[in-house]
Amino acid sequence: MAQRIVIDPVTRIEGHAKITIQLDDAGEVADAHFHVTQVRGFEKFVEGRPFHEMPSLMARICGICPVSHLVASAKACDELLAVEIPETATKLRQILNLAQMIQSHALSFFYLSSPDLLLGMDEVPEKRSLFGVAEADPVLARDGVRLRQIGQTIIELLGGKRIHPGWVVPGGVNAPLSEDARDAMLAMIPEGLDIARRTLEWYRTVLPYFEDEIATFANVKTLFMGLTNAENTLEFYDGPVRIINGTGEVIADQLSADHYTEFLQEAVEPWSFLKTPFYRPMGYPDGVYRVGPLARLNIVGRCGTPRADEYLGLFREQDTQSSFHYHTARLIEIMYGLEKVGMLLREPDILSKRTRAVAEPNRSWGVGISEAPRGTLLHHYEIDDNGLITRANLIIATGNNNYAMDRGVYEVAKRYVRGGSLNDGMLNRVESIIRAFDPCLSCSTHAVGQMPMQVELLTPNGEVVEVLKR
Ligand code: MG
Ligand code: NI
Repeated sequence: MAQRIVIDPVTRIEGHAKITIQLDDAGEVADAHFHVTQVRGFEKFVEGRPFHEMPSLMARICGICPVSHLVASAKACDELLAVEIPETATKLRQILNLAQMIQSHALSFFYLSSPDLLLGMDEVPEKRSLFGVAEADPVLARDGVRLRQIGQTIIELLGGKRIHPGWVVPGGVNAPLSEDARDAMLAMIPEGLDIARRTLEWYRTVLPYFEDEIATFANVKTLFMGLTNAENTLEFYDGPVRIINGTGEVIADQLSADHYTEFLQEAVEPWSFLKTPFYRPMGYPDGVYRVGPLARLNIVGRCGTPRADEYLGLFREQDTQSSFHYHTARLIEIMYGLEKVGMLLREPDILSKRTRAVAEPNRSWGVGISEAPRGTLLHHYEIDDNGLITRANLIIATGNNNYAMDRGVYEVAKRYVRGGSLNDGMLNRVESIIRAFDPCLSCSTHAVGQMPMQVELLTPNGEVVEVLKR
């Protein structure tokens, strides 16, 4: 009899969602979907608020990536002021954004995904956690905790608070960096780099065990999108947008975020509240693209820091269409982030007291774009003559990957669900493909806190036969 499988909750991702697997009469997978089932309108909620409140308000969209929203929001506000912010402020915001990337990637790789990579996809659920990792490989677990702590400590030293720092403001940052804080950050970099190298060397040895997953995990041909710079190296803070196709050809370059509505459009699918953006000239779904670590490493010429570039080969020798390699790219980005933070902290003007441009609003709209750990993030605000928000539109990193996550779930279900039977290995692979993207679901629905997630097994006429929760 035909059935549908629903996984709820998908564990070890940021927030929760739901997966349904539809079986045909022969018990084979007919279809599968990744659902995001809750929505809270942050865009509506901010209407009528003064624009200068946006950075700290928008940081509250998400308890997981407040810093990413803070940065994109402040950049949109800089445009409303129509100012060029001081160079030191740009560098300090870059450090903040990179520290967020380091701590977020460490959380994703070590806490959420390393159990699969170290213990295998077929290990029992009780063992597949950071505690299980700590038992099997104490160094790996300890490295993950420390690396995350390094990222968080840098955020704290900059912003004064670990969560929702109000230090980033329209026009720059509201306090310069002290020499003590700079030195404390610099002192942590070598240890971080050692951890990144140790982890990459370990990861290189486990990759061969996952050939089947590499072939199956959303190994789809999509476009990739991300920010670029004049050096053709990794760019997290600013720069024009580049879009490449699945064979690596640049199909659009030097796109300005100010004109994003000309090249991006959002599709709505019935199974999810999460909108699916696509490259407008190619339509939906041909114009669907992926963002985040995998996309960023695919669109750039090189990373731009020596140690990360040493490991770029490890990425380039893989099938870089497979979403499994989000993990590979994530580790290389951690290395890059640590090196780049070190470089920025050594800039001669990093302690400059000039960190903020003060102005009244001088434009009626502004768009801020940056790379969040999960991918390209865009905030667009419009204001009235009193500086009150009349319209806000956000394009969220996780939303950009919606289509690829959905197709990834389908591919994995099709490969691993056999004869309608469920087992831990199958369920874990379905979850694992979602985890590879490191979605932030509280962000993508603009909801605060976490959402429930489940896997449902359905008949062809939609009757729920089985619900699995972990
Ligand atoms: Mg939106
Ligand atoms: Ni988030």
